[in-house]
Amino acid sequence: MTDVKVSVLFVCLGNICRSPTAEGVFRTLVEAEGLGENFHIDSAGTGAYHVGQPPDPRAQAVALRRDIDISNQRARQARASDFQKFDYVLAMDDDNHAALSVICPPGLDHKLHLMLNFADGVEGHDVPDPYYARGNGFETVLDLLELANRGLLAHIREKHF
Ligand code: 4NP
Repeated sequence: MTDVKVSVLFVCLGNICRSPTAEGVFRTLVEAEGLGENFHIDSAGTGAYHVGQPPDPRAQAVALRRDIDISNQRARQARASDFQKFDYVLAMDDDNHAALSVICPPGLDHKLHLMLNFADGVEGHDVPDPYYARGNGFETVLDLLELANRGLLAHIREKHF
């Protein structure tokens, strides 16, 4: 087994819907491939509105239906030092990307990526914010994040392992 360690941070606005789901999906994926020891995985929000809160109950329920338990996560706000600490900072949408660009220290913006850049065949930039949406918003988020996280893991394997 390789002793490579890669750190990955998923970021949305509130850190209660999309990014905790992304964290749970990615953690489940790497553990299923026996790579849990090779990763440090976390998530954060660009906003501070929900700091300390668990993921939205709708996000928890939809993830659990796919055997992904995100109940232990607690929201925190993204900070400049995350760009020193993490190798990959994944923004869920263009607004998150713009907010992260503002706090990113000089010379570290190569670490900042749009999540859907790793989702082959998906049009558009944004994992849609499901917070105020009706209908299947949370299922759509999970489908997009499963696809994008498979692409992200393939990219990391090729580049680092
Ligand atoms: P998230 O969703 O960014 O995917 O966690 C949201 C959660 C809360 C709010 C907006 C989006 N809010 O306005 O409180």
